[in-house]
Amino acid sequence: MRKPIIAGNWKMNMDYNETEEFIRNLLSEDLDPRVEAVLCPPTINLDIASDLVKDSEIKIGAQNMFYEDSGAFTGETSPTMLKAIGIDYVILGHSERREYFCESDEAVNKKIMAAFNNNIRPIFCVGETFDERKEGRDRGVIKFQISKGVNGLNQDQIKNLVVAYEPVWAIGTGSTASAEDANSMVSYIRDLLREMYGSCAEETRILYGGSVNPGNIRDFMDQSDIDGALVGGASLKFDSFRDLVNFKK
Ligand code: PGA
Repeated sequence: MRKPIIAGNWKMNMDYNETEEFIRNLLSEDLDPRVEAVLCPPTINLDIASDLVKDSEIKIGAQNMFYEDSGAFTGETSPTMLKAIGIDYVILGHSERREYFCESDEAVNKKIMAAFNNNIRPIFCVGETFDERKEGRDRGVIKFQISKGVNGLNQDQIKNLVVAYEPVWAIGTGSTASAEDANSMVSYIRDLLREMYGSCAEETRILYGGSVNPGNIRDFMDQSDIDGALVGGASLKFDSFRDLVNFKK
């Protein structure tokens, strides 16, 4: 059984005080233990976030990192630095990183490797643009991103990998993929991983992301292959994130 994940990607939102208040509120709630709750605040607030959740089941993720452990890389954060403050997850290859910060598939692959080498679980994002979908190239794009991203991983790492299928046109737009379309791409991703890695792909958790909110989460979670959601906008409001985590209740 794959445990569902609800991961909140705060992007460049929420300052120190807001982070502290949000997490304290969350800690006082009855969160469903059948669901793994992951919060991904901006780098500057990872330390306080990690400290606040240390006696709970809530996990903290970074939104990005570099692949070297140290060195002359101004502005970057290393996997060892994240591990030292107890970070469990890292979002890698988000479409905003690919688009605004020119992140290549090769760089994403190196980061995934570096995360595993430091016992941090990658949440590896893939997704097609609107034009790619319109032109019928969506599966080709996903296949390319997946094969580049997982290049060199071993079976154990595939089991621990989290993939997030996030169609670029559904991110922050309010228009989601239909639950059926999302599920069909998610099961396609699992087929790709199965072809490459055999049955350990059954353990890989594959999330959907793109305008998920408490009103539509069940549609996605009722599907056969979707193992959770990566949520941007709707993770910024405390009530809404709590309701997402408690979607089974
Ligand atoms: P959204 O963002 O939920 O605001 O669409 C999702 C994401 O970018 O991970």
